Amino acid sequence: MAATKLLLTDLASDVKFVPSNYIRPVSDRPNLSEVRTSGTSIPLIDLQGLHGPNHSEIIKQLGQACQHDGFFQVKNHGIPVEIVNKMMRLAREFFRLPESERLKSYSDDPSKTTRLSTSFNVKTEKVANWRDFLRLYCYPIEDYVNEWPTNPPSFREDVANYCTSVRGLVLRLLEAISESLGLKADYIGSALGKHGQHMALNYYPPCPQPDLTYGLPGHTDPNLITVLLQDDVPGLQVLRNGTWIAVNPVPNTFIVNIGDQMQVISNDRYKSVLHRAVVNCNKERISVPTFYCPSPDAVVEPAKDLISDDEPAVYRSFTYAEFYRKFWDRGLATECCLDMFKKT
Ligand code: OGA
Ligand code: NI
Repeated sequence: MAATKLLLTDLASDVKFVPSNYIRPVSDRPNLSEVRTSGTSIPLIDLQGLHGPNHSEIIKQLGQACQHDGFFQVKNHGIPVEIVNKMMRLAREFFRLPESERLKSYSDDPSKTTRLSTSFNVKTEKVANWRDFLRLYCYPIEDYVNEWPTNPPSFREDVANYCTSVRGLVLRLLEAISESLGLKADYIGSALGKHGQHMALNYYPPCPQPDLTYGLPGHTDPNLITVLLQDDVPGLQVLRNGTWIAVNPVPNTFIVNIGDQMQVISNDRYKSVLHRAVVNCNKERISVPTFYCPSPDAVVEPAKDLISDDEPAVYRSFTYAEFYRKFWDRGLATECCLDMFKKT
């Protein structure tokens, strides 16, 4: 019976109408006809030659993208295509496993470091999202790998290879972004304590009435920087000047976005931008975001070199643990969690 299913995946294929607990109030629907789906969306930055002849040009492009868009795509990112393809294939296979097999990872407790769940936070939210997700902590890998699923059999190996490669890309981006702010290349990396890395395997089933619900409603990411791998089905949208813009998939690229912690460290020069995922009637969609973050004990604050009499610190210092707790307590609300950490 549909109503008793723990996961959306196992109910979505049976329904011709969106069940009432997924229906958004009229004032909070995706208005899909008003979304811009063509023309340039977000900048595409070629990382070829980042450590060679194109260094200063790439730094400039990254700085502009972080400042104006908060979102960009990267190509020639150095992550081998086989590692990426294996990750995507694995994600697809995972969500096709029999229900009983997937449910071994199920939990509705957001504090668990490995868990399969549905929507965003089933304990607190009023309206559910059209999404199932497997969330994994993945740095340091050896602390978490023994919690990860073992089905499909290559799960741990494929995910470990993927996480390690993405971490390498993130570390290169953090150096470049530090430089783009006029800071020493190791500034941001040094401000993150022991560092943290989480990821999600997001599964958005086809939806009979995509106008009534969200895969993920508009939100900013609470972490430092996000690297998103998506399959070839559109769904991600970014808010720019009040208009939602579709980010259409480009093969062999990653989507990178600035999270709340980067906005703080940059003292508001770089923006953590609202984005959302919408669903469609025809095709399942899979995305695999990597959320790179400070470790819980790290003290986050605006970089001293970016503070002056003209540009005083916008935020107080806080630990990432404090921020993360407040973020989860308030749910995936559209209001930016950052406002709670502004200096008064
Ligand atoms: C997220 C997110 C977008 C997507 O998981 O935070 O924004 O396209 N995902 O799945
Ligand atoms: Ni997000």
